[in-house]
Amino acid sequence: MKILQCNPHASYLAQKEEIDAAVKRVLDSGWYILGQECESFEREFAEYVGVSHAIGVASGTDALLLALKACGVNAGDEVITVAHTAVATAAAITMCGAIPVFVDIDPITYTMNPYRLEDAVSEKTKAIVPVHIYGMPADMDAIMAVAKENGLKVIEDCAQAVGAQIKSEIRNQKSEIGWRNVGTFGDAATFSFYPTKNLGAFGDGGAVVTNNDGIAESLRVLRQYGWEERYISKTHGWNSRLDEMQAAILRVKLRCLDEDNDARRRIAGIYDSMLEDSNIVTPKVPSGFYHVYHQYVIQYIDREGLREELAEKGVGTAIHYPAPVNLQPAYFDPDNRCSLPDTEILCSAILSLPIYPQITEEDAKYVVGCMVG
Ligand SMILES: Cc1ncc(COP(=O)(O)O)c(C=O)c1O
Repeated sequence: MKILQCNPHASYLAQKEEIDAAVKRVLDSGWYILGQECESFEREFAEYVGVSHAIGVASGTDALLLALKACGVNAGDEVITVAHTAVATAAAITMCGAIPVFVDIDPITYTMNPYRLEDAVSEKTKAIVPVHIYGMPADMDAIMAVAKENGLKVIEDCAQAVGAQIKSEIRNQKSEIGWRNVGTFGDAATFSFYPTKNLGAFGDGGAVVTNNDGIAESLRVLRQYGWEERYISKTHGWNSRLDEMQAAILRVKLRCLDEDNDARRRIAGIYDSMLEDSNIVTPKVPSGFYHVYHQYVIQYIDREGLREELAEKGVGTAIHYPAPVNLQPAYFDPDNRCSLPDTEILCSAILSLPIYPQITEEDAKYVVGCMVG
């Protein structure tokens, strides 16, 4: 491949010296789990997002599972989410013993359709998990309004959207309105630091953020065997910790996250303008939403043909995701066949083009040239 669809190695090379120094610092320190690097990263990340607490954990999937638990979701509860997401969103809900209830997406933004929520609420519903898919924020003001009306917890899945923002009309717990980062709206929000993410470690990692002191305290206990004091488990927790090496790397990468997101937005701008008059559907971003393009996803009727043609010309693509979660064998329920037409139509046509901060403008132009040239 001449141009990869994603390229975490390029992000290592871009900051090689600082990352090597951070790794060496940890190795030399003799302290490898839950130490100063993790504490410093949690402080710096909470400040970046604009929340009171960040808790580092082992992955984005664990972050969701722990957040659901800390928000009081139990076995048999229903949790409303979308089927157009990484399977991890639903996996965390089922791992917690709860039942995922899928609602359709908005066909323009591809995120949770807030107008489908009311119909999905039952007496068993405990929480809503909106997903800021591809780096595009879900309509949090509308979702929070439904949650408030029905007394539901909200856990934002921000795995793909670190740094994305929404111009909000609703005051949060800190009484803020206006432009706010995703992750500041719900009771808690979760992030993944999988290597290809906008803020990627070089291994697995994740975090939960919250403004709620009680939820933060529960998370700290749950991520380490339910310990409130060492070796004494007061609740049933397990092991989900962000290690010192990943935390040190993330501290380096956090410093250039905004710059990296700007680079992604520049590449997206090139794709947008060069594909404007073509028969390829490009992402639409309503005003008041700040997209950080974890993925740049187009729609095209002959998606497979286009994919093959691009591969022949050395351009890597991916499909995020080929099947909605509700139609995957592990989640398919023949007795409860939910109707998600907008999700299913979208899945059949989407294609993710190459996007990462180190891609050059020439490369982006070459990619479009291979499609419309
Ligand atoms: C939307 C979404 N949620 C959750 C996850 C899970 O994150 P992780 O792979 O770090 O467990 C991912 C990762 O792909 C994701 O894209």
